[in-house]
Amino acid sequence: MIESVKGARDILPGEIERWQLVEETARRVFGLYGFEEIRTPIFESTELFQRGIGESSDIVAKEMYTFNDRKGRSLTLRPENTAPVMRAYLQHGMQRGSDVTRLYYVGAMFRYERPQKGRMRQFHQIGVEAIGSNHPAIDAETMEMLMRFLASIGLEGLRLVLNSVGCPTCRPAYREALVRFLEPAADALCSDCRRRLVANPLRCFDCKVPADRERMKEAPSIQDHLCAECHEHFDHVRSYLDEYGVDYGLDPRLVRGLDYYRRTAFEVVVEELGAQNALLGGGRYDGLAQELGGPPVPGFGFAIGEDRLVTTLKPGGAAERGSPDLFVVTLSEQGVARGLALARTVRETGRSVLVDPVLHRSLKAQMRRANDLRARFVLIIGEETAGERRVTLKRMSDGSQEEIDEREIGVRMEALADGR
Ligand code: HAM
Repeated sequence: MIESVKGARDILPGEIERWQLVEETARRVFGLYGFEEIRTPIFESTELFQRGIGESSDIVAKEMYTFNDRKGRSLTLRPENTAPVMRAYLQHGMQRGSDVTRLYYVGAMFRYERPQKGRMRQFHQIGVEAIGSNHPAIDAETMEMLMRFLASIGLEGLRLVLNSVGCPTCRPAYREALVRFLEPAADALCSDCRRRLVANPLRCFDCKVPADRERMKEAPSIQDHLCAECHEHFDHVRSYLDEYGVDYGLDPRLVRGLDYYRRTAFEVVVEELGAQNALLGGGRYDGLAQELGGPPVPGFGFAIGEDRLVTTLKPGGAAERGSPDLFVVTLSEQGVARGLALARTVRETGRSVLVDPVLHRSLKAQMRRANDLRARFVLIIGEETAGERRVTLKRMSDGSQEEIDEREIGVRMEALADGR
């Protein structure tokens, strides 16, 4: 039997309701802040990611799904969506004078990583990009929106961790300081860090090897190397966050894995996710548009790992499996026909109905099914006697039931749901 590919999985009913709740809430909350949806293609030219994310990132170095199409063009399944959104922004001239263009997206991303808990090869992100301003209030407002969104789906008290990773003015000197610190002990570093030392030494902060982590604790801090503009920008981001009442912590070791970041970088980490504990990440990418061949256009955004977000949600919340308003029990062929007609009438009132089509199941078996589905009401279609079409309506929350004329079904459900 053919099964799904390693690192890709199905999201089935029972779980999908939580995905739907998360996505509906995102659309609603982001809309309050003027964000509009954008859908970009699943695949793009490989060059977009090479130039956008950067050759020295793990993503471009070893995690992309890249292939040639029939005409030999190199294409890549998108490993992230900031570069594609910026491409679309530039391609369609989406700038609005001096206004900020606010975009959000929901969709699948692809990275060839070793699958484990919280890490998939096809995963999903909910992300936003605010493009067109380098004002620190954009950083703060977008993070405030993020925290409001997380609170709206019941995730409160999560820790936002912040850093500034500098800009092309101040980062080279910091990079040198880091190399000076690491080089004397280069032989003792893990093989990945030896590669990073040459390609992008800041990435050594992400090393998981205990000895390297210990060493990095003593490393020089980027905070001591920021230029005056980056310093001021970061100070402003923080004071806006304070004004918004958003709690955050500082972590001078937070560097993020994509090369396009400048100045603000941030993450929200959730301990219960285990080794893959980054629920989301984001930051400012003021140089990205130019990397892609466009004019200088600043931007700020984040992407939430939706798979990880859904795992973090406690079961039993508002996003539980959708249960039908009414389950119709039928005991004869003629009852099925009546049940289907009644179901149509009830659905017209906007309520959901399931008719059990498995004929000749006992009343008991059908009631058990209604219970399992957590139906709010059950309708039992009895025999039609002397033209009388009576049915029994049962409210499952307290077991109360009444016999009614089937034409009253809509009205009675309404009344019982209101507790009358
Ligand atoms: P990222 O940190 O690479 O940033 O990914 C964001 C989030 O996607 C991660 O925090 C994680 O929750 C989730 N994620 C990443 N890889 C996987 C995976 N293999 N399996 C499951 N979840 C995963 C970006 O992608 C940037 N584009 C974010 C951004 C937007 N920066 C500015 N704007």
